[in-house]
Amino acid sequence: VKWRVMALERTYAMVKPDGVKRGLVGEVLRRLEHKGFKIVGMKLMQIPRATAEEHYGEHRGKPFFEGLVSFITSGPVVAMVVEGENAIAEWRKMMGATNPKDAAPGTLRGDFAATIDENIVHGSDAPETAEREIGIFFKPEELL
Ligand code: TYD
Ligand code: MG
Repeated sequence: VKWRVMALERTYAMVKPDGVKRGLVGEVLRRLEHKGFKIVGMKLMQIPRATAEEHYGEHRGKPFFEGLVSFITSGPVVAMVVEGENAIAEWRKMMGATNPKDAAPGTLRGDFAATIDENIVHGSDAPETAEREIGIFFKPEELL
C-alpha cells in the first residue's frame, strides 16, 4: 500500500479585474465550490498601487512589471483565501497555464482567457508564497 500524507492547505486566489469586468466571479466560485474547496476569506477590493507592487514583488524589474501593476489596479478584484487538500497545486491546476495560449481546455484560463496580460485569475505558487500573499490581503480576523 502506498501512503500519502494529505496536506490541508490555504492558498490566495484572486479574480483579476478582467474576470470581474467580464462577469466571471460566479463561474470561478462555482468551480471552487463544486471542487469541494472552502472559501475562508473573500472580499471585493480595489488594490492600492503599493500593495500591487508588493504582491508582485518577485517580478519587479521585468519588462511586464509596470503593465502588470497597472492592470491589477485597473478595477476591483475579488480576493479570496481558499482552503482544502493540496489547495495550492489544485487551484493552479484549475487556473491553467500562465499563458492562456498554453492553457488546457477545462481550465479557467483555457476556457475564458486569450492573452497572458489578461488571464482572469491568480493563485499562489508555493506554501511560502501563499502565506505571504494571504498576509498582504487579509487580516487574521477576516479568515473564518
Ligand atoms: P507569473 O507569476 O509568472 O504567472 P502566474 O500568474 O501564473 O503565477 O506572472 C504573474 C502575472 O504576470 C501573470 O499572471 C501575467 C503577467 N505576465 C505577463 O503579463 N507577461 C509575462 O511574460 C509573464 C511571465 C507574466
Ligand atoms: Mg505567479
